[in-house]
Amino acid sequence: MDENRVTFVSKIGMVAAAAGSAIGLGNIWRFPSQTAGGGGAIFILVYIGCVLFFGIPLMTAEFIIGRSSRANTAGAFRKLAPGTPWIWVGRLGVLTGFVIMGFYMVVCGWTLDYIFQSLTGQLFSVKDYAANFVQLQENHLKQTLLTTIFIILTALFTLSGVKRGVEKSSKIFMPILFLLLIILGIRAVTLPGSSEGLAFLFKPEMKNVKSTVFLDAMGQAFFSLSIGMGCMTTYASYFRNDVNLTKTAVQVSVLDTLVAILAGVVIFPSAFALTANPDTIISDLVAGGPGLLFITIPQLFGQMSLSALWSTFFFVLLALAAITSTISLMEVTTIYLQEEYRISRKKATFFVCIGVFITGTISSFSPEFFNLLDYASAKLMLPIGGFFISLFVGWYLDKRMIMAHITNKGTIKYGRAFLKGYIFILRYVAPIAILAIFLYGLLS
Ligand code: PFF
Repeated sequence: MDENRVTFVSKIGMVAAAAGSAIGLGNIWRFPSQTAGGGGAIFILVYIGCVLFFGIPLMTAEFIIGRSSRANTAGAFRKLAPGTPWIWVGRLGVLTGFVIMGFYMVVCGWTLDYIFQSLTGQLFSVKDYAANFVQLQENHLKQTLLTTIFIILTALFTLSGVKRGVEKSSKIFMPILFLLLIILGIRAVTLPGSSEGLAFLFKPEMKNVKSTVFLDAMGQAFFSLSIGMGCMTTYASYFRNDVNLTKTAVQVSVLDTLVAILAGVVIFPSAFALTANPDTIISDLVAGGPGLLFITIPQLFGQMSLSALWSTFFFVLLALAAITSTISLMEVTTIYLQEEYRISRKKATFFVCIGVFITGTISSFSPEFFNLLDYASAKLMLPIGGFFISLFVGWYLDKRMIMAHITNKGTIKYGRAFLKGYIFILRYVAPIAILAIFLYGLLS
């Protein structure tokens, strides 16, 4: 092990950092809009299936790759499988991280604008929340500026080192965000007319379902859990040796899923209760696409006293949740450039920022490009990465090594049956399911 690499100081810090990466705009912004498009309750059921059948096993697999190699994603594959093409899985991951940043940073920029609009009270003077969001989307220069600010903020954290930046922020703000979502959820479900929103979320209706529901849910699971691109590999490369990898994967996945569902409980009841045309609500939700959160949430705050205060608080926490995710995304690409090309951390960060500035600017100007990056990363690149990571750990890595890592050299007694089940999932269940969903989704 390279003793010069930084490791996280505390165990709770490690879980918090991984949860900080997982919990972000993917849960609160992307999950609701995918749920709307995927038909509500059935989407959520498929989503939970994806988290259980390949989310948790793949996160553990990435942890094993990262902690056993203590290198960046590409370097990890080179160390564990020298002279083989497996390194390309790591390189694909680095590219995926870069692609995600190209649209994710734009949404981060929107959160900054909404903080500002909440603070000045402008958000609640407009009344037509949908038109307000469209106005922002049409102001390309403003979006570019906000995106750039977020890229720079992330870079500042990245430069301050993994330990200080990530660990501290996640531990404090995540629980507060969680609490706030619970409060907002209670407010949302007590609005008159909200029960249909809850039914949409939790009562499966075949008539709402689309054939792409499997691919949508799988892509969302990968995206939300930050798996399939080596992000968790990179984080685990900083993990201490006494961390229980399986337990951490379960904890992070459960927290991540809870936050996503909570976000749904805030957004759908509000959307159904506050809509002007109940007959077209579902098609409106689908058509609203990426704007859902930024339209419905202000609408909900508009119903509350002290709306500007709640709203500022919410968007600040959202921006913080976002930054712990962008830090992890930037870390993947930065540590790759730093270690593979032997350049300084400063230089590596600089190059990443320039690259993301270019893609982020194009996304700010073109919703089509934005959607393309979103689609390509969540529905193509992450599942492909996940497919190969699963095969790599299931078939290529030495079983004794896996055993040592998931049982912490025998200190945790999962036994052989557990290992067998785990390997079976990685060898057969996850790759076959990913492939089937992938092909079905693309062909349907
Ligand atoms: N999981 C993050 C979210 O849900 O917002 C997004 C993300 C972060 C995806 C890091 C991938 C990643 F490597």
